Amino acid sequence: MKYAKITGWGKAIPPASISNDELSNIVDTNDEWISTRTGIKSRRVSHVSTADLATYASKQALACAGLKGTDIDLVLLATCTPSTMVANTASLVQKNIGAIGAAACDTNAACSGFLYALQNATAQIQAGMIKRAVVVAAERMTWYVNWAKRDSAVLFGDGAGAVILEASDEPCGLLGTKTGCDSEDRGILHISNYGTDLSRYEPAGPSDLAFEGREIFKRAVTGMSVACDDVLAQANLSLSDIDVLVPHQANLRIIQAIQKKLDIADDKVMVNIDKYGNTSAATIAIALCEAVEQGLIKPHANIMSAAFGAGLTWAASYIKW
Ligand code: ACO
Repeated sequence: MKYAKITGWGKAIPPASISNDELSNIVDTNDEWISTRTGIKSRRVSHVSTADLATYASKQALACAGLKGTDIDLVLLATCTPSTMVANTASLVQKNIGAIGAAACDTNAACSGFLYALQNATAQIQAGMIKRAVVVAAERMTWYVNWAKRDSAVLFGDGAGAVILEASDEPCGLLGTKTGCDSEDRGILHISNYGTDLSRYEPAGPSDLAFEGREIFKRAVTGMSVACDDVLAQANLSLSDIDVLVPHQANLRIIQAIQKKLDIADDKVMVNIDKYGNTSAATIAIALCEAVEQGLIKPHANIMSAAFGAGLTWAASYIKW
């Protein structure tokens, strides 16, 4: 059986940031509320497109793996904020990185999108359909943020992260995975006036990101913890085998609640929500990249990752680095 080894990684962090204090000049909020409720201190705002963010991160990942675009068979872009719907945004990333002729496809599972895409690309490599893939997650969440609404304006940010997967005989990469979706309550987290479910004849209002924060908080903690337990059982591992937890970065208190449920020590948990806020599908891809840069993820590390997002989608992954 072939495995899908992660051989390269990269990220795109927009240079422009907005601190909590700066945000409090344009909306009725303050650093104390945001910091204690969410752990966020600052977020990045991109002046370039989702495709550009994805391209930058993918080029970094390719360079890290020592590959060229022409080596790639598949470009999977996880995003819920695509630059264009038709043609898909992945096709522009494919063009930009020179992955001539590679399959190119967008994946939308909101905040769970990166782990969904990782699962898909890994399965294609394991089945022998392809040899190398770029899995990239990129979001421009601030495009959909209503800066006048303090509940959502404080939470989100922009960015991208990417990994390269290559067929390998070494047992590493994604070794355990579980994805799912609780569609019953999909309405509690959504962007309105976005997509084709609109009247063709009446002008749509501005898009608006809306959510039931407390309900999502509870479901995110339970959903991610249960998914992690399922993946551990699937991989025949126990929590003591896990070296690093890389959770979706939606709220520091959600991360701490999962950490408590799983009984994982502070120094094993990757957290960067303070710098970037919630970048949806991109949080885990960026966090993986930064965990390697910081030395938290070392070669052969056992990594558990989990995500929860609109849909309501969820995912957990066991990755051997
Ligand atoms: N600044 C100041 N006050 C605020 C702000 C703000 N930015 N936002 C809300 N408030 C006020 C509210 O108006 C409310 O005031 P009131 O008591 O006078 O009515 C008070 O703060 C409490 O608001 P709550 O919504 O109850 O605050 P809570 O502690 O639940 O935190 C939060 C809200 C941060 C959104 C939390 O519920 C959360 O993190 N939820 C999950 C994350 C989420 O939903 N993310 C969306 C994407 S989904 C995902 O990524 C998993």
